Amino acid sequence: MDKIKLILGDAVEKLKTLDDSSVDLIVADPPYNLGKDYIDTNDKMPFSTYHEFTRAWIKEANRVLKKGGTIYVFMGMRLISYLFEIMEQEENLNFISWITWHYTQGVGKKKGWSSRHDDILMFTKGKKYTFNLDAIRIPQKYYRSINNMRGANPGNVWDFSHIHYSQSNRASQHPTQKPEGVIERMILASSNENDVVLDPFSGSGTTMRVVQQLNRRGIGIEIEPQYIEETKQRLSEPFLGFDSIDERVLRIPNDLNNRSIRDEYLRNHINWFLNNHMDRLEDVLEDFIIKYSKKFNADEMALVEDIAQKNDIKLPSGKKPLEIRE
Ligand SMILES: C[S@@+](CC[C@H](N)C(=O)[O-])C[C@H]1O[C@@H](n2cnc3c(N)ncnc32)[C@H](O)[C@@H]1O
Repeated sequence: MDKIKLILGDAVEKLKTLDDSSVDLIVADPPYNLGKDYIDTNDKMPFSTYHEFTRAWIKEANRVLKKGGTIYVFMGMRLISYLFEIMEQEENLNFISWITWHYTQGVGKKKGWSSRHDDILMFTKGKKYTFNLDAIRIPQKYYRSINNMRGANPGNVWDFSHIHYSQSNRASQHPTQKPEGVIERMILASSNENDVVLDPFSGSGTTMRVVQQLNRRGIGIEIEPQYIEETKQRLSEPFLGFDSIDERVLRIPNDLNNRSIRDEYLRNHINWFLNNHMDRLEDVLEDFIIKYSKKFNADEMALVEDIAQKNDIKLPSGKKPLEIRE
């Protein structure tokens, strides 16, 4: 199989062409039936038509998913309860998590509360499934020797900014392009290298871009030819880091008071948390300097400067320690 296969067509029809139990992970971001402009595709169906469409594609998705595989589905709040029922009651999938993707920007309502989250349902096929916790931990807020230095579970409320039309890393004019950081977390947690990841509503190709960089194999289905072409273009571009990150990943824990633990921690932080986000190393070094520069000795300062130099980062002069204590 090609590393990444893009299929043009209707998700229900094209899913039928895939073999039973052939994919390890499904990341599905279907149209929410809210009237978005997906070129020629109707995103405002009568409720019963949309419900039947959901039922049909979930049934096929379940068929192609391997035992032990995971499926994540994005959904707006108007329809998520119906989706939950289909997945749990009709398809007998195993509920794991209801994830809230929280963002701070969006349309302001004049009456009622402005919407600031989308939700994601995570189900598995059977009770034994892949979950690589170490791959998706976030740094602890405070260093405590009894805590796992490796970091904490990020929980089920995920803060990631939308990708704005004005951002240079926006892949296309697709109206609902998702942040790569959200998909990165799902793929790292719920699959292994070379596993097959399917996205039945591939849109601008966010899942396929993440799949490509994380060394998985991918199948993306999309009904609009223009989005398929834009995805091909996106996949051919040089990789400079994923377009979004959970900002908690950038924090250095407080209370790293022991020098040797602090040094070990900094090196580990880069390896553990900044894979695919080296463009944010500068923020991490800055936080390290702000928190600990007063405690640095010459070796520690040299370590920070060495990391900065190797990565072409200019340390902010105002943030350097005023004096180095031996
Ligand atoms: C919410 S968007 C997915 C966005 C994607 N996650 C991204 O980051 O770009 C849903 C996509 O489903 C596509 N779509 C709508 N109906 C479809 C169908 N029946 N089969 C396949 N794709 C469909 C739309 O064209 C749209 O690109």
